[in-house]
Amino acid sequence: VKAKVHIDFEKTIGKIEPEIYGQFIEYLGRAITGGVVDAKTSQVRKDVLEKIKRLQTPLLRFPGGTVTKIYHWQDGIGPKNLRPVRPNLIWGGEESNQFGTNEFIDYCRKLKTDPFLVVNMNTGTPEEASNWVEYCNGSGNTSFASLRKKHGYPQAHKVKYWGLGNEESAVPDTGRLQDPNKYVEIAWQYAKLMKLQDPSISLVLAGGDTKWNEILLKELHPIADYISLHYYANSKKGQPASLFAHIATFEKEIVATKKQIHDLAPEKVENFNRWYRFPSRKKALKIALDEWGIWENEGKGAYNLEVTYQWFHALGVAGFLNIFQRQADIVGMATWAQTVNVLAPIMTNGKESICQTVFYPLELYRKYCKGTSITTEVESPALEQVGAENLGILDTSASYDEDTKTLTLAIVNRHPELAVETEIDFPVAKSLKIFEKHELTATSYTAANTLEKPSQNVVSYQHQNIDNSISSITLAPASITLLR
Ligand code: AHR
Repeated sequence: VKAKVHIDFEKTIGKIEPEIYGQFIEYLGRAITGGVVDAKTSQVRKDVLEKIKRLQTPLLRFPGGTVTKIYHWQDGIGPKNLRPVRPNLIWGGEESNQFGTNEFIDYCRKLKTDPFLVVNMNTGTPEEASNWVEYCNGSGNTSFASLRKKHGYPQAHKVKYWGLGNEESAVPDTGRLQDPNKYVEIAWQYAKLMKLQDPSISLVLAGGDTKWNEILLKELHPIADYISLHYYANSKKGQPASLFAHIATFEKEIVATKKQIHDLAPEKVENFNRWYRFPSRKKALKIALDEWGIWENEGKGAYNLEVTYQWFHALGVAGFLNIFQRQADIVGMATWAQTVNVLAPIMTNGKESICQTVFYPLELYRKYCKGTSITTEVESPALEQVGAENLGILDTSASYDEDTKTLTLAIVNRHPELAVETEIDFPVAKSLKIFEKHELTATSYTAANTLEKPSQNVVSYQHQNIDNSISSITLAPASITLLR
């Protein structure tokens, strides 16, 4: 089978924000208790920490998710023996609150990642959220800043990213918002009180469908830095092509939201006087894909969310990452949901942990796909006809890293059996010198890494140095390849 990839080096898309490689942990099942920390001792699990380190995540979202609708941050500070154990009314079970704000910040420091906190807009209050900002970021002698110092943290945590609720357009588990006008009214109070505490913070609006987003953008555009989109892809009865098609739909949603963001830019909407005294935003508003991933329904554990991923799911993840690069001018951050045990690249039991198949593209892209996103066009035979559209065998993206003067072309061959002889058309250089090929493949399309066989890794990674000029390359079936 033959295909062609054209790299249009002159057509740059935008800066690939490192924050697109973020992660997310929630008080949900074994995500934190039993994942991030040991279920018995509440100590950080070193095996898990080492695996997350490999993902070099620049951003970690916490504490939810839907659980933010019942989470009160003051339950998770101060002496551990005095912290209340609460029922997890959203996901079931009990939360001991041993991993609270400061433990989360310590965890972020270990990972060299930026913390991203989400506030409770349902059973919480704007004042509670503002106090949290003060507790984390205050440097004076005010009560919550002093409390943090008393708890052993003299320096402010400087938490930059704050989410204004989570999926507030969803049928509210605890009943309150759901009406976009109500959200606007309340978010305004939250935003103002939080920004008055610390004007330098970045705010993420809890986005929803087109109608919801329209009202949010009309009213809250100037105060926000991001509007969120959540997207979980799944397959129809385990059919890989249906998963790829579902992922492709997401790109359309991103493009439609981008248009809305541009059409409803503050200068185009009247009457923003109410934002008087609001510190102005430094960068243009972008999309925060602050929950994305693959949600198949056959998992185990709390809410069946402990999903085993096969190799084709990893090809889907690379497809998602290609989308984020192709839409780099509007995607400002993305946090995979979730990091450990829940829809996760890392799975644990009481003794061990493993990397699922989806871990590997996350690790590889983070390492090499950075800088400026570059346009690619691909001609490849159809993997499947999806509606009127052709879902091609190949999926691509490219980036140029100014620091190392290196172009990285990412190509996913989604076909289970066919190798694809691919011509690479790069008109700006007479001969294209590829010096490195990084390739991920697996023992089969449906192979999975599981805790039943912790030492057996079905994924192989090959790094090959190539020192000649080439214009075509053969891509292995079901492979993820980075050519540099
Ligand atoms: O990631 C699991 C859940 O999915 C999150 O709590 C919620 O925001 C989403 O619906």
